[in-house]
Amino acid sequence: MSGQSPGAEPVVESVRLWDPLLRLFHWALTGAVVTAWVLGKWGPAIMTWHFWVGYAVLGLLAFRLIWGLVGPRPARFASFAYGPGAILRYVGGVFARRPSYWPGHNPLGGAFVFLILIVLVAQAVTGLMADADDFINAGPLAADVGRETAITAAAWHKRLANLTLALVVIHVGAILFYRIWKREDLVRPMITGRKQVRREEG
Ligand code: HEM
Ligand code: HEM
Repeated sequence: MSGQSPGAEPVVESVRLWDPLLRLFHWALTGAVVTAWVLGKWGPAIMTWHFWVGYAVLGLLAFRLIWGLVGPRPARFASFAYGPGAILRYVGGVFARRPSYWPGHNPLGGAFVFLILIVLVAQAVTGLMADADDFINAGPLAADVGRETAITAAAWHKRLANLTLALVVIHVGAILFYRIWKREDLVRPMITGRKQVRREEG
């Protein structure tokens, strides 16, 4: 049940939604991805720091994989894996000028979370195998995968970096859309853990 009858104000309550580790993960991931990106593009020619920050991203993603299986309910993959029907229904109402009060990642946001996590895994793994062919920078697995693969991996690492940037811009744009259009602040819950959500009936 949605806890909302047509036309009526939804019954909302403040709950502890995001656990401390998930919140720490999110902001550490934000810092690490931005740093890795900036170092990759404009950092020193010898990319040691880029590699270290890239390993941090890999570590964070490994944590998220485990947390998605055994973490608290709102953090679990199963709780925000929705089918196409649910995603389309959500999209149908997303422009309504009211907060979603969704108790977790909403169906569209959930699909986006999977997408960005998969792209980041691919970004970091291609980095491990990448050989920039500049006689300076080669990922730690570049020698094992062979020259052809290492050069292809470097090309994909660049393309995926552009995709990562686009996804982050869309992500922040969506958060602003919720803040300005739907009058719902999603950032504060990612900091404090508490969020106003619809009360489930029953
Ligand atoms: C490199 C930058 C960023 C990356 C890679 C990123 C990635 C993510 C990921 C993976 C999640 C899902 C959390 C989970 O369940 O694991 C998420 C959620 C979220 N992010 Fe970011 N994020 C970035 C920057 C930001 C920034 C700058 C903001 C603030 C404006 C922000 C606000 C949020 C919020 C509010 C959520 C929760 C959305 C909801 O309520 O469903 N993120 N982000
Ligand atoms: C999510 C994490 C990562 C991000 C966002 C990222 C981003 C970038 C960016 C923006 C570039 C510059 C591409 C260009 O010249 O247009 C780059 C280059 C590179 N990165 Fe990463 N990277 C990440 C992880 C890693 C990891 C884990 C490694 C290896 C340990 C790595 C190894 C490399 C190498 C060898 C290059 C040079 C490739 C070339 O210039 O062709 N990266 N990275």
